[in-house]
Amino acid sequence: MINKLSPSILAADFAALGEDIRKAEEAGAEYLHIDVMDGHFVPSLSLGFPVIEAIRKKSVAVFDVHLMMDNPDPYIKAFAEAGADILTVHAEVCPHLNRTIAAIKENGMKACVALNPSTSLSALDYILEDLDMVLLMTVNPGFGGQKYIESCTAKIRDLRKMMEERGLEIDIEVDGGIKLNNVQTVLDAGANIIVAGSAVFGGDIEKNVTDFMKILGEA
Ligand code: DX5
Ligand code: ZN
Repeated sequence: MINKLSPSILAADFAALGEDIRKAEEAGAEYLHIDVMDGHFVPSLSLGFPVIEAIRKKSVAVFDVHLMMDNPDPYIKAFAEAGADILTVHAEVCPHLNRTIAAIKENGMKACVALNPSTSLSALDYILEDLDMVLLMTVNPGFGGQKYIESCTAKIRDLRKMMEERGLEIDIEVDGGIKLNNVQTVLDAGANIIVAGSAVFGGDIEKNVTDFMKILGEA
C-alpha cells in the first residue's frame, strides 16, 4: 500500500487558509483532508461549499472530504461540483449505505466509509468490496487536537487482516490524535492514509509535513 499524508485543514489558520495550504503542498503534501461538520452528528460546525470551492481554485491536491453530517445523500453531487475527489460518509448515519456509495461513485468520486471508534468493523461486512477507502476514526469526531484512543490500534490491525483475507487492497485512513510520535504505530498496524491536523498546522507547517513524510516514506 502507498502511504499518504492528508493534512486536516481544520487546524489551519482560517484567516490565512490559502497560505497555509500552499505551505503544506509545497512541502509535498498530495492530499488535503477537509472536515465538514453539521452541528447534529457532531457538536461542531466547521465549513461548507464556499470554502471548498475557494480553495479548489488554489490547490491541485486530492481533496479528501470527510462528512461528519446526518443525511449526506442530498449533497453528494454538490460536493463533487465543489471539488471533492474522495467523499467519506459515516456508517452510523447512512441507513442505505449501498445507495450512498453508488451515488458517490456515479458522481466521479472515490467512496469511503468512516467508523467511529466504538463502531464495529462488522458494519463493513457487506459493503467492503465496494469501497475505495475506509476511515477509522481514532478519536470521537467533532474536534481537532484530541488524544488518540489506544484501542484503535487493534481495530486497524483487524481491518487490514479482514481485507487481506478477502484479497482486497483498500486504503485505510486514520483520523484523530495522530502525531509524529505515534504515526509509526498506526502504519505498523496497517493504516496507509494518515490524517494530521494540529500536528501539521500547529507550528512550522513545512517542517511538520516534511517530518511526517520521512516517516511515511513519501519524502
Ligand atoms: C476530527 C476531525 C479530524 C481533525 C483531526 O473530528 O475529523 O480530521 O481535524 O485533528 P487532529 O489531528 O488535531 O486530531
Ligand atoms: Zn476528519
